[in-house]
Amino acid sequence: MIGIFDSGVGGLTVLKAFRACMPKADIVYFGDIQNAPYGLKSREELTRLTGDAIDRLMGEGATYIISACNSVSASLVASFLQEHDLPPEHLIEMVNPTVQHFKHTNKKIAVCATPATIASGIYQEAFKTIATEVRTIAIPELAGAIEFGASLSEIERCIHTAFVDIPRDFDTLLLSCTHYPFVQNIFERLLGKGIQVCNPA
Ligand code: DGL
Repeated sequence: MIGIFDSGVGGLTVLKAFRACMPKADIVYFGDIQNAPYGLKSREELTRLTGDAIDRLMGEGATYIISACNSVSASLVASFLQEHDLPPEHLIEMVNPTVQHFKHTNKKIAVCATPATIASGIYQEAFKTIATEVRTIAIPELAGAIEFGASLSEIERCIHTAFVDIPRDFDTLLLSCTHYPFVQNIFERLLGKGIQVCNPA
């Protein structure tokens, strides 16, 4: 059985993509709504919450774990595997597959994500391995706003504020928080036609 977790509903965007590839897979999903949002938490808090989520999924019978949370993947996947003596193939994370997808393109890429993901530097470092500089944009309140059903105008305000001073020197924007694809159409409308908005799921 495959266990998927996220701070809340965000991982459902990953589950949807996963289901399209593996319709019959046996999956258990855990959204840690009680502790959401994750993207403003420290590495220490995320470590504890990830441990609890994995224990819970394994208690339900999961033998493979997908971290459908960029904030978790970015902050602690590497150290978590070491600390828990897990073989690397037993935890699937989201950053490197996303970066590899752009390996043979000339895209000018920007990454928007939670403060935890941007502060980790993992996307910046991973894109360097394919010789690509990325612009990064942290959006502090958006995942929580989506999780807890904020109004359309509040969602628009979060996105507008985050991009207002950002030069439009990119043509591709990665939604590197699994909550953001729920409002992909709002990103597209606010950023305009010249920018392709991508859901890494
Ligand atoms: N959806 C998660 C992510 O991809 C967590 C967002 C949050 O809870 O702040 O980062």
